[in-house]
Amino acid sequence: MTLLGYRGEILSLSHDPAEGPDAVRHEADALLVIEAGRIVARGPYAEVAERFPGLAVEHLPGLIVPGFVDAHVHYPQLGRIASHGEQLLDWLERHIFPAEQAFADPVHAAGVADAFLDELLRHGTTSALVLGTVHACSVEAFFAAAEARELRMICGKVLMDLGPEGLRDSVAEGRAETEALIARWHGRGRLGYAVTPRYALTSSDAQLAVAGELLAAHAGVLLHTHLAENTREIAEVAARFTDAVDYLDAYDRFGLVTDRSVFAHGVHLPDRSCARLAEAGAGIAVCPSSNFFLGSGMFDFAQAERHGVRLGLGSDIGAGTSLSLLHNGGLAYQAGLPHGYVLDPFRALWLATGGSARLLHIAGEVGILAEGQEADFVVLDDAATPLMARRTAGATLAERLFALQVLGDDRAVRRTYVLGRCVWDRDAGHGHA
Ligand code: GUN
Ligand code: ZN
Repeated sequence: MTLLGYRGEILSLSHDPAEGPDAVRHEADALLVIEAGRIVARGPYAEVAERFPGLAVEHLPGLIVPGFVDAHVHYPQLGRIASHGEQLLDWLERHIFPAEQAFADPVHAAGVADAFLDELLRHGTTSALVLGTVHACSVEAFFAAAEARELRMICGKVLMDLGPEGLRDSVAEGRAETEALIARWHGRGRLGYAVTPRYALTSSDAQLAVAGELLAAHAGVLLHTHLAENTREIAEVAARFTDAVDYLDAYDRFGLVTDRSVFAHGVHLPDRSCARLAEAGAGIAVCPSSNFFLGSGMFDFAQAERHGVRLGLGSDIGAGTSLSLLHNGGLAYQAGLPHGYVLDPFRALWLATGGSARLLHIAGEVGILAEGQEADFVVLDDAATPLMARRTAGATLAERLFALQVLGDDRAVRRTYVLGRCVWDRDAGHGHA
């Protein structure tokens, strides 16, 4: 089997810096050796090169980091990014629900899935937890496109029997379509499934109960939904679920709060919810650009850290304003400050890589560029613009990383590699074969 050798500066986080010291793994001059898509060696160049005499080595110009893992994103909303004028509930009605109707057409779905995956790779994102629409064919199209690119992706059909006219399933349809999609796609190659009730307001109690049954019946599938994003949404949830002590509890009573559960946002959580999330091993996909864009609020990192809640980072396109998890990392820093929380740039990188991977239960495979992991990685350019070059010249590693997060986006992604193959080359303007 052919070995691939890549030489360059490598940075990864082996664990959450908030949980313990020595999380940063950085080699200024490293060698990465890949066999059949997996990393077989990583370490200082001189040491590793000695173990692989005769290995042809390609020099990668830039800072090599693990491929980004987007913990919450809606592929059907790609074309609705930057839709003006409303907070969550009105934005859904006016911009998002009409756009999602079009995914009843599998040809439309396939076209958007292709464009979405191209965009992800341009932004250095190699894995994601993705929502389709209520239409099973939207998820078929997404998985087919991800499989063709050999990407590690998780997706699910949205359950929404209380959705608007034309964008509604029934309890029975939702169950049957989810079962069929799990049977066909979960665990096939690098693909996984997430049971995906849209949020508490668009599913009946009966459908939320079915989601809990599906989660319990299928080991390894995730639960993916929204939680406590917007104040009006939270008031409507409280008005409907009068027995629930808080929003999370409305999910909990249907068996939806587990160590395989990923909740997007969690902007407005009582301490009880944070404690319950931590106890269950459930986690939150923090989506700062979305929270700023929809005026939802700012995620309280200090509260989550006090309770030990697992976190990842999500773009939440189309409410998010950038697919870049660099840019979302910079906004996460800005979301933390008003709460008195200073997000360290290395922790922001952890959230965008190993943190999200852990949340998605794919940390055994991707996220930290360790030996044995799949070779999904990105080559970043910290001098992608004249201003970035000025800011990063002579700077420390932490300063360079922070500049990449505050000033960087897809322009700073020079190359993206999947299973050791270059799939995006900024300077060539395309992926390699
Ligand atoms: N809550 C329910 N649906 C959605 C959605 O599509 N986007 C966001 N940001 N929040 C939601
Ligand atoms: Zn969302």
